[in-house]
Amino acid sequence: MLFSPSLSVAILGGFSLISNAYSSPLLPSGQSLTKRISYDGSTSITLALNTDFPDPAFVQHTDGSWYAYATNGNGKRIQVAHSTDFESWSLLNVEALPTLSGWESEPDHWAPDVFRRSDGKYVMYYSAVVQSNPNRHCIGVAIADSNNPAGPYIPTSTNPLACPLDQGGAIDASSFQDSDGTRYILYKIDGNSIGHGGDCNNSVEPLAATPIMLQRVSEDGITPIGNPVQLIDRDASDGPLVEAPSLLKAGDGTYLLFYSTHCFTDVKYDVRVATASSITGPYKKDAVSLLASSDELYGPGGGTISNHGNMLFHGWCNGNSARCMYAAHVDVSGASVFVE
Ligand SMILES: *[C@@H]1O[C@H](CO)[C@@H](O)[C@H](O)[C@H]1NC(C)=O
Repeated sequence: MLFSPSLSVAILGGFSLISNAYSSPLLPSGQSLTKRISYDGSTSITLALNTDFPDPAFVQHTDGSWYAYATNGNGKRIQVAHSTDFESWSLLNVEALPTLSGWESEPDHWAPDVFRRSDGKYVMYYSAVVQSNPNRHCIGVAIADSNNPAGPYIPTSTNPLACPLDQGGAIDASSFQDSDGTRYILYKIDGNSIGHGGDCNNSVEPLAATPIMLQRVSEDGITPIGNPVQLIDRDASDGPLVEAPSLLKAGDGTYLLFYSTHCFTDVKYDVRVATASSITGPYKKDAVSLLASSDELYGPGGGTISNHGNMLFHGWCNGNSARCMYAAHVDVSGASVFVE
């Protein structure tokens, strides 16, 4: 089903705030996962860009300022925004990905993620349509030819980095560097594209798997080492899918996997957290959303969280015609996580 603004406005009006602190009984003893979520003016959540800027990710430049990246929109394949304080953002009039690799085609360039490598180069992961199969997306890599986080980013290979076509392809790549320096890429296997219809093409039985995968890569960020490992998959409580992974390591060594559930057009689209003591899992999903729809926020998701506790995500805005970027600060001390 396509997104219906009028229907969604009606649902939005009937949805109430979620603002209670929550302690999970599922966590290992000695840990608690405390949440205090709302967008009612009492939290750090701010509207950061009042324009279509979906699936945001970000990187900090050597000058201390911040660059954010988003799915195609505003006439660009990959959008870029800039901020000096992480609160006040401006959209840049640049095309971050002016050239395409041989494997990909228009029109979709989704959910970019950028990190700064130890050699100073900025590396971008993104999802694009596979030329040989217009119903599948896969993960590409591009590197900025200067040390400018705004790009331009140039594809590094004629092949995608991850492309499990028989399982539906792959989207929503993000980078993670462990405390020992080991680099990983996370992504979602896009089972929806081999689904059987309904919400996000995957609410009609039999439902396709949409697992979040972890692939170790070498220090260059682009050379896979070994095979990918599955961290979580969707279950009945997630609706048609899980997607948009972002991994963080807390000070006590706990791995926190942030992800979205349900279809991005649904009022139930959200940000949730699963925790593990080992990077490969097992991950324990928390049933309560870290970020959920409220009277002021519709369909928050596609979030990215950094070690600083800075977070960007999108929510529907402007009469549900666009997904605007929101900024928040998340307290991740220990295994406790909440939006300040
Ligand atoms: C849904 O999945 C079918 C395969 O089962 C595919 O042909 C179709 O393109 C998919 N639709 C979307 C919108 O992804």
